[in-house]
Amino acid sequence: MCGIVGIVGHQPVSERLVDALKRLEYRGYDSAGVATIDGGALHRRRCEGKLVNLEAKLKEQPLAGTIGIAHTRWATHGAPTERNAHPHFTDGIAVVHNGIIENFAELKDELTAAGAEFQTDTDTEVIAHLVARFRRGGMGRREAVHAMLKRVRGAYALALLFEDDPSTIMTARNGPPLAIGHGVDEMFLGSDAIALAPFTNEITYLIDGDWAVIGKTAVHIFDIDGKSVTRPRQVSMAAAHPIDKGNYRHFMEKEIYDQPEAISDTLSHYINFLDNRVVEVSGDIAFANVQSLAISACGTAYLAGLIGKYWFERYARLPVEIDVASEFRYREIPLSPQAAALFISQSGETADTLACLRYCKEHGLKTGAVVNTRESTIARESDAVFPIFAGPEIGVASTKAFTCQLAVLAALAVAAGRARGAVTEKEEQILVERLAEMPRVMAQVLDSIQPKIERLSRELAKCRAVLYLGRGTSFPLAMEGALKLKETSYIHAQGYAAGELKHGPIALVDENMPVIVIAPHDRFFDKTVSNMQEVAARGGRIILITDEKGAAALKLDTMHTIVLPNVHEIIAPMIFSLPVQLLAYHTAVFVGTDVDQPRNLAKSVTVE
Ligand code: M6R
Repeated sequence: MCGIVGIVGHQPVSERLVDALKRLEYRGYDSAGVATIDGGALHRRRCEGKLVNLEAKLKEQPLAGTIGIAHTRWATHGAPTERNAHPHFTDGIAVVHNGIIENFAELKDELTAAGAEFQTDTDTEVIAHLVARFRRGGMGRREAVHAMLKRVRGAYALALLFEDDPSTIMTARNGPPLAIGHGVDEMFLGSDAIALAPFTNEITYLIDGDWAVIGKTAVHIFDIDGKSVTRPRQVSMAAAHPIDKGNYRHFMEKEIYDQPEAISDTLSHYINFLDNRVVEVSGDIAFANVQSLAISACGTAYLAGLIGKYWFERYARLPVEIDVASEFRYREIPLSPQAAALFISQSGETADTLACLRYCKEHGLKTGAVVNTRESTIARESDAVFPIFAGPEIGVASTKAFTCQLAVLAALAVAAGRARGAVTEKEEQILVERLAEMPRVMAQVLDSIQPKIERLSRELAKCRAVLYLGRGTSFPLAMEGALKLKETSYIHAQGYAAGELKHGPIALVDENMPVIVIAPHDRFFDKTVSNMQEVAARGGRIILITDEKGAAALKLDTMHTIVLPNVHEIIAPMIFSLPVQLLAYHTAVFVGTDVDQPRNLAKSVTVE
């Protein structure tokens, strides 16, 4: 989603602004722009497409100035053209915006009737026109911005420059995050601390309703009523993680191969390897007493939650209600305060998931956040935080965050089982021993399966649609496989519970339809095999992802098999994720898509 950066400095800013934008590229965008003040006037350069275009433009037409704001735009209102790219200029005011102004149409009508001339199709432009109108009415800069904030409705992270004030950036937050960075005689603004990591690790996060005036040496923060407020200054960990691809072609590939190490980091925070027990981490959530668990999340995080549901129900005998966050928040679920709620989010900023968290808090539930970013809004607003320790995930397609989310959910399910007396000490030790094997098995799998995956991916890349099937925890994993394939290679894919095949999707099966079956040799195996036979009988092309026992038990001529080591069912979803992710990755490479930033997608979805 859109990225914002700003610098109030004493050295030229345009190059540094673009460098900071590059660190936000992972969020997904389709146009970009930068504005500075120089010689008492606003100047800007904007481009469609990637930041290389903006860099090329800046090379031809450099921008001077020691104060500036910049933006990567993920189009919501209006096509991703240069004309619609931010910053927008109106009457000596420049604005960049992340979010959606929900009442923009009514404001636009009102402003147009009063003589404003709009130059773009965006919702954002109303912000600049509103501020300009208030200023024409005699208000000072701060007053005008405050008055504008009282008129707009919706989600926003904003940065504004005023031509008549080359020493401050004004900013405001309601929804999408904003981090203010403290430098030496320079101040910074960014959509996250990662963008600011080369400049400073001293960060102040704005909270919803805050707006601020950033000068070279100080920031003044106000709440929505205009009262001066202070927000803590903290040291961000963002700079601790270098963001580069190493020797890999794409971040997605690197992040797939990062998994043994990432999972090992994750587990070391949740498991005591000395006595093979799960560490007591539940904090404010008393699993022993809760009557049910509500889980909500989006996309891949939701699918991790679906797998978690199987574990909480099996190991902790804890009923789980789960839904995608965009539905959960509007379903009017009767929530009991005896329930606890878990929110799973890599970014910790996903708008729908955050809204569910606030909804559950209003209903008196204890809340827990399974997040990768401990400084995120979802983490800050939850009663308990369960970090996943995956390190920065830059590829838009979530890979290592997914398996680290699973590792945390598995550990929590075992902890809940222990607290509820549903798992004995002996059972806990066995489960923990198996969890501890994960990094080693992952490394072994990653070392061995690539050649086969590449061969199969070459064929998948020619297909128009793919079906994924699985049972038990392999069902959500089938959905994750389909999601991963479609988002990275743009090939239509769908994941089904294998038992649902004959209730509809079997109509699609013919000799052109690859069917990827995820089937460890578990208690569902024989039933899944029956479903595979139904596919084979109709000439369907099967790719079976199974383990050694499964491969020995089954031979079908029409079939390709990816064979993994035999593993315990509690780690099977993480181990089986690896071929699923690699198939999506290599297929996307063969199709030739923009693997790390697939079209239309954003890494951090901060609007509804
Ligand atoms: O940051 P979050 O985990 O809340 O993001 C949720 C989804 O937007 C995300 O998982 C998305 O589905 C990924 N692109 C999937 O690879």
